[in-house]
Amino acid sequence: MTTLITNLGELMTQDHEHRVLRDAAVVVEGERIAWIGAASDAPAADESVDAGGRALLPGWVDSHTHLIFAGDRTAEFEARMAGEDYSAGGIAVTTGATRSTSDYDLTRLAMGRVVEAVSQGTTYVETKTGYGLDMEQEARSARIAAGVADEVTYLGAHLVPAGMDADDYTALVCGPMLDAVRPYVAWADVFCERGAFSEAQSRRVLQACRDAGLGLRVHGNQLGHGPGVQLAVEFGAASVDHVNYLAGEDTDALASSWSGWDPVAGTGRGTVATCLPACDLSTRQPLAPARQLLDAGVPVALASNCNPGTSNTSSMAFCVTTAVLQMHLSVHEAVRAATYGGALALGRESGNDVDGERAVGSIAVGHRADLHLLNAPSATHLAYRPGMPLTHAVWRAGVRVR
Ligand code: NIG
Repeated sequence: MTTLITNLGELMTQDHEHRVLRDAAVVVEGERIAWIGAASDAPAADESVDAGGRALLPGWVDSHTHLIFAGDRTAEFEARMAGEDYSAGGIAVTTGATRSTSDYDLTRLAMGRVVEAVSQGTTYVETKTGYGLDMEQEARSARIAAGVADEVTYLGAHLVPAGMDADDYTALVCGPMLDAVRPYVAWADVFCERGAFSEAQSRRVLQACRDAGLGLRVHGNQLGHGPGVQLAVEFGAASVDHVNYLAGEDTDALASSWSGWDPVAGTGRGTVATCLPACDLSTRQPLAPARQLLDAGVPVALASNCNPGTSNTSSMAFCVTTAVLQMHLSVHEAVRAATYGGALALGRESGNDVDGERAVGSIAVGHRADLHLLNAPSATHLAYRPGMPLTHAVWRAGVRVR
């Protein structure tokens, strides 16, 4: 079955050549992209969709979410808007609500969040454990996550539960809990921050999870300067997420990690800096320095960080809009960070097909047909018309899902 999507006012490929085509068309065959070019040259297909001059982008790749949770933290948000600081301790509130929710309801809640994200143009999503915080509950979260998300990250090291010794809990995270979640996860993460896990504890978690064959990421430098970025680079993590407080040597370390990168071959990659602007606004932290990172040669991803505490949104469009209006990225750079950048943070970028799965995050022949048709003639409208519902149609692996 082939589908021709034609009469595209703009086609933003986010491929290696950074092509933006006008009056373009795309042919989808099964779950992959089979042809791209000028609408006037398009081959015949089994069916045709007239895009009416609208813009086509890759579907958003949301590389950082926490979707496996129950409960609500409106009161904490209100207190923050009234001037209180964010602290990691709020995680315990969500852990209580999550533990007392049935498998059925936790799955239903998580699936609802994925549906909400897809309806806004997200076609590939990562999510984490981290609101279970004991062996049984973390394994349950990982199992539920594996049923609803494309990529699952183990975040047993999110917060030390009340009443537990931090080193004892770290040993649990690195031992029996890791064994229990291992069948469901490909990634591991640690919240390396004051009030969460120290440098030494984070190092133990990263070492154990790497030894278990997991890819790594780090929550780092969110609430202040700290060792998160340096640890992420030292351990070869795929991404370090938040990056609000960076010293010059942090940016240098991230940039150096990419010095041997060949993006076409997919070799020599380093650590992506994942910026979470919706979280930065909701916690009143300084926006992550995405402009400086890009200028220093560090690949940047934008992600929603959808979670009940610091970023209760899955709107990638909001993140892109904020990155343009407030973080000084061009529209092309912001869309790239929310598509190709996310894929890079998840090891699913072009040149790096995994387990026979096609690359995501860019529109190129052979890639998975994850497509986002805007109800606008160009991607510029994402920033020019902030907050407007601009998703017109979404295809995921070649299937129209909206
Ligand atoms: O990415 N920073 C740590 N984890 C989440 C927040 C979790 C929460 O407060 O519930 C984050 O912002």
